[in-house]
Amino acid sequence: MRSVKVSLGTRSYEIKIDSGLLAGLGPDCATLKLGQKCAVITDTNVAQRYAKPALTSLKRAGFEAVLITVPAGETAKRLKHVESCFNQLAEHRLERKSFIVALGGGVVGDLAGFVAASYLRGIPFVQVPTTLLAQVDSSVGGKTGVNLAAGKNLVGAFYQPRLVLCDLASFRTLPEREFRAGLAEVIKYGIIYDAELFAFLERDMAKILRRDAPSLAHIVARSCEIKADVVSQDETEGGLRAILNYGHTIGHAIEAITAYGRYLHGEAISVGQVAASLISAELLGLPAQDVERIRTLFIAAGLPVSIRLTSTQRSKLLAAMTLDKKVSAGEIMFVLAERIGKVIWGQKVPSAAVNRALDLVAQRTEH
Ligand code: NAD
Ligand code: GLY
Repeated sequence: MRSVKVSLGTRSYEIKIDSGLLAGLGPDCATLKLGQKCAVITDTNVAQRYAKPALTSLKRAGFEAVLITVPAGETAKRLKHVESCFNQLAEHRLERKSFIVALGGGVVGDLAGFVAASYLRGIPFVQVPTTLLAQVDSSVGGKTGVNLAAGKNLVGAFYQPRLVLCDLASFRTLPEREFRAGLAEVIKYGIIYDAELFAFLERDMAKILRRDAPSLAHIVARSCEIKADVVSQDETEGGLRAILNYGHTIGHAIEAITAYGRYLHGEAISVGQVAASLISAELLGLPAQDVERIRTLFIAAGLPVSIRLTSTQRSKLLAAMTLDKKVSAGEIMFVLAERIGKVIWGQKVPSAAVNRALDLVAQRTEH
């Protein structure tokens, strides 16, 4: 088993990475010395496959566990589901010492984490991420929250879990498209922080796509190490943590103008990262060879690298970027790359440069 520590003083926690960890959920929670009652929050897809082993493990370890199921998909990240979870927790008399287990992808993690942060002004929670995206990104670092009609993740809290269990066996049932979308975040870690990880991905992408167990253990562990390192230095995104948003300024805008329906998050940030590399070449001198390596790696992972927009969509995209949380005093702030493995945050980018990158992205095709 691999283990990564997120160092945040008294709120530090462990990320465990291995195949078969779900069976040990109960004993792991017992080690944390939490209260006797808990609620497993999950979605309808994940419940079918993993609710039973989770509840069995918790019950065998002596916990009184209830199951709360929300609909699968982004629509679960709404205040009405937060309220429904609160009501079910109250019905089952969960108390301050009780705890929540978030069993599922990033949607469940964000929702259940926010429920844990606010029920009785905060009760402990454990993350059991079941998608690649959730294991390498959303379950680590304490960002929790839900969406409003006005935009994604507009209500939330920084609230750290007490433990993260990344069970690699959950990838056996993960649909191919979801798996590839998670790879977009892994590639991101290579670009922002670790040229060696990037080279590993270039070399071993075929093995990773075959879901080779040692390769998966390596990419999940290395991604978690990088995220833990960044979050330990800047928990609430005063500065450095912004590097985790590489490719997200354009990516989020693509998701927004397509009504969060056409692209998965990982697919949108794949195009966003390619566009950001083109802006980086223009403004920071990212070498052309690195721009090409970035594009080639996303293609190898089966992710989109181009998007064609009508002029109306282009205007909407630029407008959506100015609504993003990464805007400061009206200026669109980007994370840009100097080279693979090194980025700088807080870069002001004129909209003309964004337009030029979008022109280039539109001309490029996957083959
Ligand atoms: P998701 O939670 O919607 O899961 C994707 C789909 O896969 C769902 O249909 C789900 O039911 C299904 N699923 C999950 N695990 C499965 C498994 N093992 N086998 C079969 N099916 C499975 O999507 P996601 O990509 O995991 O997460 C996206 C969410 O994460 C977004 O809401 C995004 O805003 C959020 N996010 C949060 C952070 C953060 O730091 N908190 C970071 C990145 C993304
Ligand atoms: N996914 C971005 C962050 O956790 O900060």
